[in-house]
Amino acid sequence: MKRHSIIASAVELGFLSIAGVAFSHGSGDDQSKIDLVVNTPTEAVSREEGLSAWDRIYAVASHPRCSNCHVDESNIPMWSGPSYGKTRPHGMNINAGISRIGIESIPCSTCHMQSTVPNDIAHGAPHTGHAWMLAPVEFAWFGKSSAEICEQMSDPARNGGRDGDGLVQHIIHDAEIEAFIVWGFNPGGGREAAPGSMQEHLDDMVLWTAAGMPCPAE
Ligand code: HEC
Ligand code: HEC
Repeated sequence: MKRHSIIASAVELGFLSIAGVAFSHGSGDDQSKIDLVVNTPTEAVSREEGLSAWDRIYAVASHPRCSNCHVDESNIPMWSGPSYGKTRPHGMNINAGISRIGIESIPCSTCHMQSTVPNDIAHGAPHTGHAWMLAPVEFAWFGKSSAEICEQMSDPARNGGRDGDGLVQHIIHDAEIEAFIVWGFNPGGGREAAPGSMQEHLDDMVLWTAAGMPCPAE
C-alpha cells in the first residue's frame, strides 16, 4: 500500500517533468539559476536500483559538506574534509546549543550571513539563502553508517515528518531558496564539493523513494 501511494504521487509529480522545473532567483542582474527536473520513472523501480540510488545518496549525505552540520547532541559543528586538514570541532569554541543556531552563546549568523551571494574567500564563513544552523539532532549523520543514515532518513518520526515526496520536495525547496544542499554541491572557497550534482541527487532521491526507500543491511 505504502509503495503504491509513493508511485501514485511520483506520477503526480511527473507532469512537472514535461515542462521541467526551473528556478530563477535574485535581482535581474543575478545570473544564478538552478534548473531541476523531476525525472519520474516510467516503470516500477526495483529494490536493486533503489539500493544503488541509496549508495549514491549516502555518498552525498556522509560527505563533509553535508555531515559537518548533521551532528549529534554535543551541538558542535565539525570541520572535516581535505580542505580542513584533520577532522576537528569547529574552531573558536563554537557550540550551537540546543537551539542549534547558537543563541545560547554566539549565534551562527554572527559570521555566517544569510545571503545568496556566496562567500568564496578561502576560510571565509560560508553563506547561504537560508539562515545557517545545525540540522535537528535527530538528523545526525556524522560518523554514522550507511544503514543507520538510511533508517533515519526513511523514518518520518526522525526526518521531520516526511514521506518520499516530502524528501523530494525538500531538495526542490532547497534549490528555490539556494540553501544548504545547493551550497554543498558548490561550496566555494577551495572546499571540495559533495559528489555529483544537485540534479543527480534529485534523480537518486526520486528513484530511491519510488523503490520504497530500501536500506542496506547493517
Ligand atoms: C566567529 C565566526 C563564526 C561563528 C560564530 C560560526 N562560524 Fe561556522 N565557520 C566559520 C568560518 C570562518 C568557517 C570556515 C572555516 C574554513 O573554511 O577554514 C566556518 C565553517 C563552518 C562549517 C563547516 C562547513 C564546511 O565546509 O563543511 C560548519 C558546519 C559551521 N561553520 C557551522 C557553524 C554553526 C552551526 C554555527 C553556529 C552555532 C557557526 N558555524 C558559527 C566561522 C564561524
Ligand atoms: C548549514 C548546515 C547544513 C548543511 C551544510 C546541510 N544541511 Fe541538511 N539540514 C540542515 C537543517 C537545518 C535541516 C532542517 C531543515 C528542515 O527539516 O526543513 C536539514 C535537513 C535536511 C534533510 C531533511 C531530512 C533528513 O532526514 O535529514 C535532508 C535530507 C538534508 N538536510 C540533506 C542535506 C544534504 C544532502 C546536504 C549536503 C549536500 C546537507 N543537508 C547539508 C542543515 C544543514
